[in-house]
Amino acid sequence: MGEKERWGTRVGLILAMSGNAVGLGNFLRFPVQAAQNGGGAFMIPYFICFLLLGIPLMWVEWSIGRHGGKYGHSSTPGMMERIWDHPAAKYVGVLGLFMPMIVMIYYTYIESWSLGYAIFTATGGYWGATEFAPMQAFLHSYQGIPIDMANPEIANAGISYFSSIWPAYILFIITLACNIWILSKGVSGGIEVMAKIAMPTLFLFAIVLVIRVLTLGTPDPSIPEASIAAGMGFVWNPVPEALTDPGVWLAAAGQVFFTLSLGFGSIQCYASYLRENDDIALTGLATGSVNEFAEVVLGGTLAIPAAVAFFGIERTQELAQSSFDLAFAVMPSLFQQIPGGQFFGAMWFALLFLAGITSSLAIGQPIMAFLQEELHMSRNKAALTLGALVFVGCQPVIFYNQQGFLSEFDFWAGTFGLVVFATIEIILFAWVFGIDRGWEELTRGADMKVPRIFRTIIKYVTPTMLLVILGSWVFSILPPVLRYEGVNPDYIPYVRAARLMMIGIFIALCAAVAYAWRNRTNGPGATDA
Ligand code: ALA
Repeated sequence: MGEKERWGTRVGLILAMSGNAVGLGNFLRFPVQAAQNGGGAFMIPYFICFLLLGIPLMWVEWSIGRHGGKYGHSSTPGMMERIWDHPAAKYVGVLGLFMPMIVMIYYTYIESWSLGYAIFTATGGYWGATEFAPMQAFLHSYQGIPIDMANPEIANAGISYFSSIWPAYILFIITLACNIWILSKGVSGGIEVMAKIAMPTLFLFAIVLVIRVLTLGTPDPSIPEASIAAGMGFVWNPVPEALTDPGVWLAAAGQVFFTLSLGFGSIQCYASYLRENDDIALTGLATGSVNEFAEVVLGGTLAIPAAVAFFGIERTQELAQSSFDLAFAVMPSLFQQIPGGQFFGAMWFALLFLAGITSSLAIGQPIMAFLQEELHMSRNKAALTLGALVFVGCQPVIFYNQQGFLSEFDFWAGTFGLVVFATIEIILFAWVFGIDRGWEELTRGADMKVPRIFRTIIKYVTPTMLLVILGSWVFSILPPVLRYEGVNPDYIPYVRAARLMMIGIFIALCAAVAYAWRNRTNGPGATDA
């Protein structure tokens, strides 16, 4: 193994870290969470969670990452051992491989839909079907989900639907190949170069789209309650009663985790490519703020206000039951109703693709790093191995999406698992590594004065909040999920298979870590904590 990889420039690092955070979560997940949890009702818990969970955890993950990087670790098994001198530490770190592995499997697939839709929109593939029902049917046909051709609204829409899943399959392979190719070029030669191109383009596209949405006015004067002003009001008017609804708090916390890429192992990984005394406090805060701008200001101004402008609040809440319907069925139907819609629509899906790919690279890199550093693979071999793993893992997600594979993966790894890993991490950091060393790590080389109150927040407030959140998950959300409540009985075997697959992947990763550690000389793995 050669020299440790490094970021080329600070701007490159900031763009890559922002690309890590700004993703499908900002433009797909956030609007749906906001709509499902009462619009403005969601915002107060969301901002409190950002302040008390998001910022402290981000700093903790940057600190753990830069600290691990000093010893040559860019994946969490090695990093955890550096903050907790215990044989179990490396297995805790397996969580930082498991989460990105599972999330990458389904995330790249969703990312490939945006690539497909950018092409279909630019070429007018579904043009002519302005209603929601045929657009949802078009999406389902693309995903290989049967559609109801007995429904005249669908049958007579005047567009052709996909007759097989192969177009989606091929676009998935292309998307995965792009990811693997960029990862094979390395941190500064691949990820950083991509971030420097993709992030400015993404912001440009988002700003153009925001201006277009804000100038929609009241598209249908016969429905005066459907207006852009109503849409903005829905997202922004705070509803103080929401503060007492635990469900809204859980949704807000889950969103903060996903959007900031916390608990994925990927912030730690990117931070490990810094030097020992490089600033992390200001850079961490800056990239977190870029993410919030992209999420709240840009993401919050696009899909939901646009949908409200056409459908009104109630119908938007119904339509936004799924992120995929909102982005891939509601938005395309809106674009067909505005001048220049094809252009703006293609831009919307290109924006999603760029947001997606800069995040999937970040999700893939911890596994790349593990394969290279701990299993001593060359970068190309690591990239090919990751590509093969994601390709195989995605097969059931592609073919049994409707039966629940994708949503199971998203629930266990992309939602619950993130909170579990982050809770363990912050406890180890603040209580085992110790807040004194932790604080020194965070503030070393800092280009800003970190308010001292965050010492107390990191040590007491964030872990307590996380334990309360985990407690309510374990006692109120998990039992019905484990009893398969609400799952179509025909799909239970698939849901079970998805869970078994995740357990299998977790065990395989533990075995890989055990193997790597057994074959270790006293090289980068030796512990000093
Ligand atoms: N943080 C990434 C997103 O929001 C994973 O999509």
